[in-house]
Amino acid sequence: MIIAVGGTKGGTGKSTVSTNLAVILAASGRDVLLVDADDQGTAGDFTTMRNQSREDGAGYTCIALKGRAVVTEIMRLRPKYDDIVIDVGAGETASQKGALAVADLYLVPMAPRSFDVWTLEKVAALVEDARVTNPKLDAAVFLNRADASGSENEAAAEIITAQPALRLLKATLGNRKSYARASTAGLAVTELRPADAKASAEVRGLVAEIGAGATRKTKAPAKPKAKAGTATTSSKSRTRR
Ligand SMILES: Nc1ncnc2c1ncn2[C@@H]1O[C@H](COP(=O)(O)OP(=O)(O)O)[C@@H](O)[C@H]1O
Ligand SMILES: [Mg+2]
Repeated sequence: MIIAVGGTKGGTGKSTVSTNLAVILAASGRDVLLVDADDQGTAGDFTTMRNQSREDGAGYTCIALKGRAVVTEIMRLRPKYDDIVIDVGAGETASQKGALAVADLYLVPMAPRSFDVWTLEKVAALVEDARVTNPKLDAAVFLNRADASGSENEAAAEIITAQPALRLLKATLGNRKSYARASTAGLAVTELRPADAKASAEVRGLVAEIGAGATRKTKAPAKPKAKAGTATTSSKSRTRR
């Protein structure tokens, strides 16, 4: 599955979500490519930290791509990985459009605040444009840094569901210090110790709802070994003169 974590606004949680997805999918046994398509290089820095701090390394491969290369390289790499997660920079850039051209799912984190919600029309327009050449593109928005209470979540949800090009996920991520604490240490929030059970459950709920990790592995399974006695050339016939 190719998941582009995007949106036109900065600071909404794109890098947080894409790095958490990469780690969680890799930990479930999938071969994951994380593409850092943002000049800020957050996903790359996060991965460097993991590679330096963990004996077994990051657990996934990370490359940086931008502009048209997002399309051309991902098309070439697609058969080699089970999942590709793209951390897209903010703005209506060539990288964002490229990611939308190759993705199965466009995943858009959005805080339930007015400035964030105001970008929805731009996001919907990007999706509609991308669907001309990528008609299978699924576009899902979820509330990140959602409030524990108050009417903002509901107001934002109402505006999101009014956009026919986008669907709203049930999963939400709360506004929790653990997300930043984990990222700073090069960890997914599920790896944080002491554990934050609420944050872990939220992010796992998001992974489950988007069906990530549930798709068939893209790589051909290893060929089964020939059963004993069924080899076409027995050792006897090979050694016979
Ligand atoms: N659910 C959350 N709760 C609390 N802080 C969050 C949450 N999601 C992201 N953040 C913090 O918000 C800031 C911006 O997140 P980031 O993932 O870098 O956004 P983007 O990549 O969209 O610019 C970071 O400091 C990050 O730790
Ligand atoms: Mg980022």
